Amino acid sequence: MKTPRLPPLSLTLRSALLFASVAALVISVVGFYLYGNIADSMRRQAGFQMSGRVDYFRNLLGNQFPLSRLSENPHLFENMLGNERDILIFQQPGLPPLINVNPRGYFLPTVAPVAAGHPLSLAAVHVATTPDGVPIRFVTALVNIDARQRIQITAAHVMANETRMLEQYRNRIIEATIGAFMLIALMGYSVLRQGLKPLRHMAAQARSIHPATLDTRLSEQGAPPELHQLIGSFNQMLDRLADGYRRLSQFSADLAHEIRTPVNALMGHCQVALYQRRTAPEYESVLVRNSEELERISRLVENILFLARAGEAHSAIQPGSLSLGAELTRVADYFEGLADERGLSLDCQGHGEVWADAILLRRALSNLVDNAIRYANQPSRIILSGRRSGSGWIIEVSNQGPVIPAQSMAKLFDRFYRADNARTSSGNSTGLGLSIVQAIMELHQGRATARCDADGILCFSLFFPDRKTSNPSAS
Ligand SMILES: Nc1ncnc2c1ncn2[C@@H]1O[C@H](COP(=O)(O)OP(=O)(O)OP(=O)(O)O)[C@@H](O)[C@H]1O
Ligand SMILES: [Mg+2]
Repeated sequence: MKTPRLPPLSLTLRSALLFASVAALVISVVGFYLYGNIADSMRRQAGFQMSGRVDYFRNLLGNQFPLSRLSENPHLFENMLGNERDILIFQQPGLPPLINVNPRGYFLPTVAPVAAGHPLSLAAVHVATTPDGVPIRFVTALVNIDARQRIQITAAHVMANETRMLEQYRNRIIEATIGAFMLIALMGYSVLRQGLKPLRHMAAQARSIHPATLDTRLSEQGAPPELHQLIGSFNQMLDRLADGYRRLSQFSADLAHEIRTPVNALMGHCQVALYQRRTAPEYESVLVRNSEELERISRLVENILFLARAGEAHSAIQPGSLSLGAELTRVADYFEGLADERGLSLDCQGHGEVWADAILLRRALSNLVDNAIRYANQPSRIILSGRRSGSGWIIEVSNQGPVIPAQSMAKLFDRFYRADNARTSSGNSTGLGLSIVQAIMELHQGRATARCDADGILCFSLFFPDRKTSNPSAS
């Protein structure tokens, strides 16, 4: 069975709880360290007390104090002990006790007594426990009363009070730890909430941004320095989004405009044809013209689809090592007939191995040669060449044509851009050929560029980086 997932804790609550846990941990560690010290000194204290007591009676009996006087006044000892649970036993070794002050009747295990005349130290302190688990610390030692008589003295302290005190102290530590945890969690929460105000302010600003206000930027004013980097990155992201959105809007507008022309033409042809009865050859001519328009729409759609797919599927290309000379010749052969018709010649120069997707390379090259044949001056020469450059290969297609002004050159690769409307208004142009070339080069992590000199020599360069090279460094 799936356990239901708890909602994630807020940053404020999480930090407050973490702070409180650390504080509680520190308090409890310090508390229990002191607890250990106190418990230890209580144990030592009891040990010293018992040793002192035994020593006292050893001196008393060793200084000719008659044993009979001791045994006659057992109650005297009870008063001397000062603790109703403490134990004092006098006995001759191996015989029943002469005096046995043990009001609760606790059992003490038999241990080896400290020999007569030996000083008592903490090492002589033994430990036993009462049936209810309270420790008893006791000392047992021998004293020589005269040459024949030896007495074993046992003094024990039942640590009932100390145990109770330590228990209370332990409870205090636990209470203090819990109290500190709750107090710090509460105070930390409210302090952090206050501290994170700039973040909420930033979130409110971000919430107010929508497609119509994509030019809004988050303000760094009043924000703590830690947030400046985040605000900077967020604003940069907004720049990119706004740019992408603007391009997309422009693309949609251009697309609608591009499709409207052939669709209007189609509608016009049909309406004119339907206006009155026509002969079969007239209908045939309408169908031919419509078919041309439909072809144009179909090419447009196919190009747009290609660009859309190229924009998202970076992994879709299948590059391989291709013979540059063979690829140039192949495309030149394909266009030879068309070039002849327009009085143009095609020259291929260059050899080498280029790392590219064969189908995409041919498509890019075909688009460039198609342009060159379409827009070159007649008669002239179109040159297809390839050469090594930096960490890759450059393929160039150049032709002689009208001089293209610099501001038009910068836009050549834009979608639907045509530099020369007079030549492209024939209906064959979709204005997407160079955008496709650029998209293909991006898929190869390469680059497409164009330059035009003062004599009208227009040269398009495609840089294909070597295998595994991602940064183009074309010269
Ligand atoms: N070799 C060239 N010589 C002169 N102008 C060129 C050449 N190549 C491109 N251009 C100019 O750049 C414009 C954009 O070219 P692009 O290939 O993108 O579109 P297109 O050729 O108009 O249409 P299509 O989508 O059918 O290729 C062309 O309209 C043309 O004005
Ligand atoms: Mg073209």
